[in-house]
Amino acid sequence: MPSVVILISGRGSNLQALIDHATQTSEYQIRAVISNRPKAAGLDLARAAGLPTAVLDHTAFDSREAFDAALAEQIDRFDSDWVVLAGFMRVLTPGFVQRYLGRLINIHPSLLPAFPGLKTHQQALDAGVRVHGATVHFVTPELDHGPIVDQAVVQVLPGDTAETLAARVLKLEHVLFPRALADLCSGRLRWSADQTTQTVQGALAAPLLIEMMNKGH
Ligand code: GRF
Repeated sequence: MPSVVILISGRGSNLQALIDHATQTSEYQIRAVISNRPKAAGLDLARAAGLPTAVLDHTAFDSREAFDAALAEQIDRFDSDWVVLAGFMRVLTPGFVQRYLGRLINIHPSLLPAFPGLKTHQQALDAGVRVHGATVHFVTPELDHGPIVDQAVVQVLPGDTAETLAARVLKLEHVLFPRALADLCSGRLRWSADQTTQTVQGALAAPLLIEMMNKGH
């Protein structure tokens, strides 16, 4: 079974969705959960699921390089096929990204390439877009720019705030992320790279995930 190490920094709701999917389907096995914050609530979720956990407090390191080297050492202990960033709020060094290139994925709360970086829901509201969403993508050295694995779409409604939008996007993230990971683990989707381009090839197991408004119609 394909194996996964999950990196978190906080709440861990995506982690929980990934755990639930693993339990229900056996499409992948979670080997460990690693947090850069000792108090991340997601650590309790991991422990409750009986998963090995590790904490690597980034504030104890002098440089990004030193932290990333220690992080890689932790990850490699678990010898996993995939490294999954589920709300891991650290910018990774190019060396780290290179080491896991093609097996390192992230979930970002916007329809990339729109709105990389932070405060994505406010960025979407400020830009006046009609649709917004989330993206699972491969991690490459350029922040929030790697090849797109899958996306989920929500409608921006009149009166939406960053909070209401975030809540609706998050609900879809919890469906999108395990689904995208399973598509990669099964080989239905795969990383493809040549000298100049990097893309994801293959077919999604399920259609594009779109929040259905007006369910009664
Ligand atoms: C999610 O919105 C995810 O897209 C972003 O960070 C948030 C993590 O939330 N990268 P949680 O810790 O999974 O609840």
